[in-house]
Amino acid sequence: MSQRSQRKKDHIDLANKYYLPHPDADFSGINLIRPALPESKISSDSIQTNFFHKIASAPFFIEAMTGGSDESYEINRRLAFCAKKENIAMALGSASILEKEPEQLKSFVIAREINPTGILLANINPLTKPKVADQIVKELQADALQIHLNAVQEAAMTEGDRDFHWLDNILEIQQLVNVPLIIKEVGMGLDPFSVKKLAKLGINYFDVGGMGGTNFVHIENQRTANKDNLFLDDLGLSTVKSLLSNLQEISHVNFIASGGINSSINIFKSLVLGAKYVGIANHFLHLSMQDKNGTALISEIQKLKYQLIILMALFGINKLDDVKKVKYYLSLELTNFLNQI
Ligand code: FNR
Repeated sequence: MSQRSQRKKDHIDLANKYYLPHPDADFSGINLIRPALPESKISSDSIQTNFFHKIASAPFFIEAMTGGSDESYEINRRLAFCAKKENIAMALGSASILEKEPEQLKSFVIAREINPTGILLANINPLTKPKVADQIVKELQADALQIHLNAVQEAAMTEGDRDFHWLDNILEIQQLVNVPLIIKEVGMGLDPFSVKKLAKLGINYFDVGGMGGTNFVHIENQRTANKDNLFLDDLGLSTVKSLLSNLQEISHVNFIASGGINSSINIFKSLVLGAKYVGIANHFLHLSMQDKNGTALISEIQKLKYQLIILMALFGINKLDDVKKVKYYLSLELTNFLNQI
């Protein structure tokens, strides 16, 4: 097995081993105010959404995780089966491995084969050659392309990149690729200063990938012999802080919430804050590993949809565009953070 494939396998094994049933991405600091007179009814139509020109049954999706190993092939097959069955979107893990190991393509393409008309997002690192990025999008018939920014993770990896000059290549990819680009973090959060810079250059989608759930410093620490990476542990911005600060500063682009989200109420709170879509990674991975047919994952997706529909009605909301009208107040800590940033 190549070093890259082994890393993909390690990430799956360790993410599953360190799965957090109770992540903390600061959602407890958002207090929703529920109207006693909602004037609404419970309806599954209320959570349908347009996802890159296709209709999804819900605004949450299976976030980018894997590809590039035999184990990834099976996981992507299972995730794609569940995504198709429940008509939700799915992002694949980084396909940048294809630059050096094109024979790994099948572990990504399986998702498109299983779900030929579904909503599928491709994912690459910011140094992927623009031509390769374009080829990946075409081979997967991807509806959008995520580019992950993962400086802390790279620093924590013994074999990680040591040069973080990424912007020029991102702009070259933007020139060449014909689908929307999504800039995302991988669990350490996007700050509003970087987002502002990228938004000025024409990027329209940002996935905050905030801190509070999967933590790649912890994961990489388990892969490193001398385990001395914990000085990087606290360099993240929580999902809620990332969303709040970005939405306060920049209003004309679309935000995706992800990082430490595994409940309907936190999906709902993300939408109330202004997120357009919500990504769930490790929680879905963990469930997908419980049985080969995806039964556990499918029933969780159904549960999340059902609960989200109820929340929509209880807050008097009939369509996703109106969720931002829900009133809320913030904890002192979040207020203090927003005043200072
Ligand atoms: C990831 N994540 C990730 N992100 C990315 O942009 N490209 C990738 O290849 C991967 N690979 C990957 C593997 C595994 C096993 C996990 C669990 C996660 C990061 C992921 O998309 C997400 O940003 C973080 O995991 C935070 O979300 P959760 O896990 O807290 O819901």
